[in-house]
Amino acid sequence: MNLAGKQLLLGLTGSIACYKSAELTRLLTQAGVTVQVTMTEAATQFITPATMQALSGNPVYIRLCDTRIDSNMLHIDLSRRVDAIVIAPASADFIAKLAHGLCNDLLSTLVIARDCPLLVVPAMNSQMWQNSVTQRNIAQLHADGIMVLGPDTGLQACGEIGNGRMIEPETVYEEIIALFQPKKLAGQRVLITAGSTFEPIDPVRGITNRSSGKMGFALARAAAQAGARVHLISGLVTLFKTPWGTSRENVQTAQQMYDAVMESVYDTDIFISVAAVADWRAVQVSEHKIKKTAGQLPPPMYFIENPDILASVAALPAPPYCVGFAAESSELRMNGEAKRRRKNVPLLIGNLGPKTFGKDGNEVVLFDADGSTPLPRADKQSLARTLVDEIARRVLGSSTPLSSSGL
Ligand code: CTP
Repeated sequence: MNLAGKQLLLGLTGSIACYKSAELTRLLTQAGVTVQVTMTEAATQFITPATMQALSGNPVYIRLCDTRIDSNMLHIDLSRRVDAIVIAPASADFIAKLAHGLCNDLLSTLVIARDCPLLVVPAMNSQMWQNSVTQRNIAQLHADGIMVLGPDTGLQACGEIGNGRMIEPETVYEEIIALFQPKKLAGQRVLITAGSTFEPIDPVRGITNRSSGKMGFALARAAAQAGARVHLISGLVTLFKTPWGTSRENVQTAQQMYDAVMESVYDTDIFISVAAVADWRAVQVSEHKIKKTAGQLPPPMYFIENPDILASVAALPAPPYCVGFAAESSELRMNGEAKRRRKNVPLLIGNLGPKTFGKDGNEVVLFDADGSTPLPRADKQSLARTLVDEIARRVLGSSTPLSSSGL
């Protein structure tokens, strides 16, 4: 599910981190979300209502009594029309109000009048955060079923280093996406390999392939947003950011990836093997850089086969549900099903790989015991969500199957 069409109320309270909410508003509106900004008087000292109005495209409300509203029941009107309320940044004072049910301004009043989820994103000096009063208030928010996101540790506006910084707007945005995703993989432990392996030849050279890791990372993020506990084993990738909500382990060679997978697999319900694993590695890795010598032929290279990670997991006595990927350069239908059978996995996702390497879009075909099902072309993140749905349906059983059609 994407965020387009959702209505969010974004509440700003008095903190220097208000500037981060400007960026958050931009991310949300770009995703098609209607953002209704409400500010406390203190927040207006840090960012102007005009800025927030321009970014959200909606009037900004500050006071409980606002003559722009016919009924003058702004706190009820605003809290009723939204799918969720996000308080970012949430100051220590506002958190204290929330914990005790005080409602003496528009934002604190509409929050009490809500009938939708509430997310609170704290931002304050680290001593204020650590203060037992604040911690007691936060514990109260948890007990009241309010989601508290962050804070982060790092350099603070006051120059001190500590815990209390508001988490980055991109992270808040990810949490909002996650909030709206159906939790189809709740309680499931998912292990994903992504990226390419690198097989060294000498200290400066090696063999790799063109996989970017984008599909594996998108799947890890989508699975986490669907409620799974996700562990990502990553080879070489062109992305640096660990997907939201996942734990990550970096490896280089196929053998290292095999060892890492085998260590985690017994704690896994679903294994999704997206990595482009090198089939072979050099028999001998030279300790020193191989030099060229004038007049001599290039040195011969000898390879041995790497372990097949996916096939090895599928052959375990009690394997997790295994999902393979296959990037073929031709004959997708024939090669995809043959590969699924050879690896003995219930589901294989095939594409014409070289066309999509490094790109944001992808077009895939699902191969399972019932036949092949092409999925419409989509960006990798939307596709990842569809694939998570498809995997969840096969593992746990649920409605809305995609119709199976031959290619
Ligand atoms: N795979 C793996 N370990 C390997 C090779 C492949 O786990 N040593 C997994 C990939 O992660 C992918 C699936 O197997 O999920 C298919 O990968 P692919 O490279 O297409 O398969 P190969 O068996 O190497 O077949 P090909 O001869 O077409 O390269």
